[in-house]
Amino acid sequence: MTVTGGDPLRRLTPVVRLAPAKLNLTLAVVARRDDGFHTLHSVFVPLGLADRLSLAPVGGHRDTLHVTGFDAGPPADSLVFRALAGARAAVGGGWTGGPGPAPALAVRLDKRIPVAAGLAGGSSDAAATLDGALEAWGAELDDDARQATAARIGSDVPFFLAGGPALIQGRGEQVVPLHGLRGRPGIVLVTPVMAVSTTDVFAAFDAIRTHGDDAVRMSSVHLAEELRAGLTADNLVARAGVLASANDLLQATSLVEPTLIPFKRALSRLLRRPIGLSGSGPTLWALYASEAEAMATAETVRSALGDGSLTAPGTGQPSIVATAIVGHDQQGSEG
Ligand code: C5P
Repeated sequence: MTVTGGDPLRRLTPVVRLAPAKLNLTLAVVARRDDGFHTLHSVFVPLGLADRLSLAPVGGHRDTLHVTGFDAGPPADSLVFRALAGARAAVGGGWTGGPGPAPALAVRLDKRIPVAAGLAGGSSDAAATLDGALEAWGAELDDDARQATAARIGSDVPFFLAGGPALIQGRGEQVVPLHGLRGRPGIVLVTPVMAVSTTDVFAAFDAIRTHGDDAVRMSSVHLAEELRAGLTADNLVARAGVLASANDLLQATSLVEPTLIPFKRALSRLLRRPIGLSGSGPTLWALYASEAEAMATAETVRSALGDGSLTAPGTGQPSIVATAIVGHDQQGSEG
């Protein structure tokens, strides 16, 4: 954490943060908790695809948010505001201009991650807001306080403080960084234009299951161990078939959005690759050894959609993005 000196209102340049998308390479649902949430065992990886935020202290008492890019819904519902409120409460009077509450911030968000897509863009924006607000205010929080603040904002938020691949357990608040990724595997993301609510998918899961498959759990445990000990991009790609079925929410998502599964099959036939579902969807992914291969594949998908040999469900043409999985040593670089 950088501590800035002086009055933050006089800061000339805004604090800028990239907020990466995430992908679940595995997602095992371990159990349903009494509070309705589920304990998970999941390997999360950050991607080069990222939203961009800038935060600047302003006069007055009201935080503001200006969004460009993808439509993220009404700004008032944004997790950015929840993150600012959480950060302000956690800091109290402990900022460079204290002892009063930390000053209002004007946040600009360039939304490049598809929204409600299973890529956790909103949660990542919240984590970047928390981190950026602390810097803008010249305030510090120890790791435990940051993690607790992040967990209060949303289940997926603590992961983004890890800065690289991580094993996620509990509701999302237990984060173990995995430092063994070698190289920068490519990923193609195909996000149909349809809203899939995470809450609905977990409710559908509860209607059919009490817990996930042992095989999914084992795949998740193995991948976490390999990503801790050392795994090359080629070896990750070699595991794509196992990973594509290592998601306990697949069946529940297909109940909520039945058109997704035939599309997943059609994509797999087109690319002759295993296709996975990120989180509760609807984003589908294919893994490649490099970002260049992923870019070529994205073109293949675009032309197939263009000439009608592939048709996508949803209310428009899907978003197709070629990007890469980003390791702990590569944060800050854009894909
Ligand atoms: O915490 P967050 O608001 O991101 O969670 C969205 C929804 O996803 C929750 O309301 C809950 O239904 C479900 N969820 C869950 N178990 C988790 C994470 C999310 O049941 N570990």
